[in-house]
Amino acid sequence: MTQAADLLDPAERLDLDGLRALQLERLRNSLRHAYENVPFYRESFDKAGVHPDDCRSLSDLSRFPFTTKADLRANYPYGMFAVPQERIRRLHASSGTTGRPTVVGYTENDLHMWADMVARSLRAAGGRPGDIAHIAYGYGLFTGGLGAHYGAERLGCTVIPASGGMTSRQVTLIQDLNPSVIMVTPSYMLTLLDEFERQGVDPRSTSLRVGVFGAEPWTQDMRREIEERFAIDAVDIYGLSEVIGPGVAQECVETKDGLHIWEDHFFPEVVDPITGEVLPEGEQGELVFTSLTKEAMPIVRYRTRDLTRLLPGTARVFRRMEKVTGRSDDMVILRGVNLFPTQIEEIVLRTPGVAPHFQLRLTTSGRMDALTVRAEARPDADAATREAAARSIVQAVKDGIGVSVEAEIVDPESLERSVGKIRRIADLRERRD
Ligand code: DLL
Repeated sequence: MTQAADLLDPAERLDLDGLRALQLERLRNSLRHAYENVPFYRESFDKAGVHPDDCRSLSDLSRFPFTTKADLRANYPYGMFAVPQERIRRLHASSGTTGRPTVVGYTENDLHMWADMVARSLRAAGGRPGDIAHIAYGYGLFTGGLGAHYGAERLGCTVIPASGGMTSRQVTLIQDLNPSVIMVTPSYMLTLLDEFERQGVDPRSTSLRVGVFGAEPWTQDMRREIEERFAIDAVDIYGLSEVIGPGVAQECVETKDGLHIWEDHFFPEVVDPITGEVLPEGEQGELVFTSLTKEAMPIVRYRTRDLTRLLPGTARVFRRMEKVTGRSDDMVILRGVNLFPTQIEEIVLRTPGVAPHFQLRLTTSGRMDALTVRAEARPDADAATREAAARSIVQAVKDGIGVSVEAEIVDPESLERSVGKIRRIADLRERRD
């Protein structure tokens, strides 16, 4: 399927020179807006000895200081806002699993831009005006539900605001209301899969045609699993609340080759996570974003902690980011070897006899850390298959990642199911401090 040019919006039809010129103009304005209206940026730019006027080319951005989650926390709740409160139309907040949450704000124009970006994302995913879109991202302070909602409406879809949870009702809604598009975390899609099967409904028989999955890392193997079991196209949507929410980058259904970053609004860099040095295209590092048009909360060189690489555009002029393999925070260092849950996901999904549900349990064994991969057996797997699966997981982790782990194949339906973002790691290690 090719994307008919008349479906694209004007920025998607720019050539590379046009795009870079637009970015530079917007970047200069955005840096000035941040500097003039947010004391935090004025101080941090002054301290680094840079002024917005020093940004004469896109590469000059590397002279400006980074912004981190800790900076947002230190300025909780409203310290990063660049407009008076009366101009703020909406607040969202990050889940804040550790410490204070971070609050983000949107002006009227920000909300329009966000809806436009999600509409653009949904169109790239294969959604069209007139489609019925079932939204099972959580509604509330999390940006997933409302972000997807207004974007789908902006595209001209009929929206089912299901939110997360009440899983058996989700299945009923999907069967009765005939959505063609579903927007949900990939892990909750697996929970829905179980529920279809429990109700004796063939998941391949639904009206669903496209799934737009994000908010957590997922692998190509997971894509294959979901596509086959549901008979749909599964594409990746990326975003983070500090930048806007969902709709920062989106995979195009016709290529499924990584996510095009909507860089007319969000300027990406990939940096070395240790030195902070900007890395050339194609090299893996930490993704950093600068907003180009945001009013309420401009963000300058925000360190996402997400690891990926930038690649040239294909289906669109915009650069792509490779599927995020993990966050630096999710990385487990096991006896000196770095390991991401997505690496285990690939292995689990390739192992016969196990379902795509797994958890990583970290424990202390003597003075060492130990990791057990707990994966669920498929209902038809007998004892011999389960034993073989455990052995095969241990071997694949040893061969592929280079570290010894244990594997335990647990009964079907015994691991906790996701209703939103899944937590893969159960850290039961003794504290040594
Ligand atoms: O998760 C926004 C979102 C909602 C994106 C719905 C996509 C769909 P936060 O709660 O602020 O925002 O979490 C942002 O989630 O830094 C990544 O670590 C992770 N993440 C988001 N999308 C993806 C993805 C929303 N497609 C954090 N692949 C980000 C991998 C993702 N990780």
